[in-house]
Amino acid sequence: MESQSTLRTAVIIVAAGSGERLGQGIPKAAATLGSEPMLGHALRGVLAAQIAAQICVVLPRGDTELRALVASLQEGNDVQLMTVDGGSTRADSVRNALEVLSETDAVLVHDAARALAPTEVFHRVLNALESGAKAVIPVIPVVDTIKVASSSERPDIAPEQVRSTPIRESLRAVQTPQGFELATLRKAHDASAMFTDAQAAAITDDAMLVESQGIPVYLVRGSELSLKITTPNDLLFAEALLEGPAAPRWVEG
Ligand code: C5P
Repeated sequence: MESQSTLRTAVIIVAAGSGERLGQGIPKAAATLGSEPMLGHALRGVLAAQIAAQICVVLPRGDTELRALVASLQEGNDVQLMTVDGGSTRADSVRNALEVLSETDAVLVHDAARALAPTEVFHRVLNALESGAKAVIPVIPVVDTIKVASSSERPDIAPEQVRSTPIRESLRAVQTPQGFELATLRKAHDASAMFTDAQAAAITDDAMLVESQGIPVYLVRGSELSLKITTPNDLLFAEALLEGPAAPRWVEG
């Protein structure tokens, strides 16, 4: 399914995370999902959306296996696939990719960990950019009640206590791909280059940086299929999705 967008678009796939919480002792993007590494699903998902002129995959420094996987997917594809080394934080990894991208209108930043994101989500993000948004992110409603925690007044009872309860109706769980006008994302990342290590480690998505520039970030509908595969349980769930009615994988049911 091809997007009708007239925007020249690049996609950054960040895949340089350590995968510590998955506990397999290998980078998360190399963990097997179904019959291939998670990155293979993520990259083929981006290719299936047919939105990108250029895709830059950010890989763990020194990795050879995932580089070979990216190279193998280049065969028979017009889209330019590139790889760069990751940095010590996610924001550093995105910045490394921004340095090598050619001048496009739009850039989508996608987590390899959201390996099953459907085609329609890529198109919803791109359509919002096409309509004039400088920043757009896919979201889903939050089903849990969320509490803000703080240190406990009585550590002998429990280490933390509730500080406040945001109204659930107004909360959204944020996914990727996140879409930006390229110049806007570059400016936001340049501004964050001065951050302390603690500030840099607290940047968990690109939209945060753009928000801090006072730029409106628009929300479009994400997908339950775009789960972030982080723990062994997530991997089991993703395997079940692959075998279940979600097929073909990158199209909403
Ligand atoms: O686990 P976390 O939220 O940090 O990871 C989100 C995404 O960012 C993953 O796809 C991971 O591979 C990537 N990442 C990265 N470079 C880092 C940390 C995370 O590319 N230094």
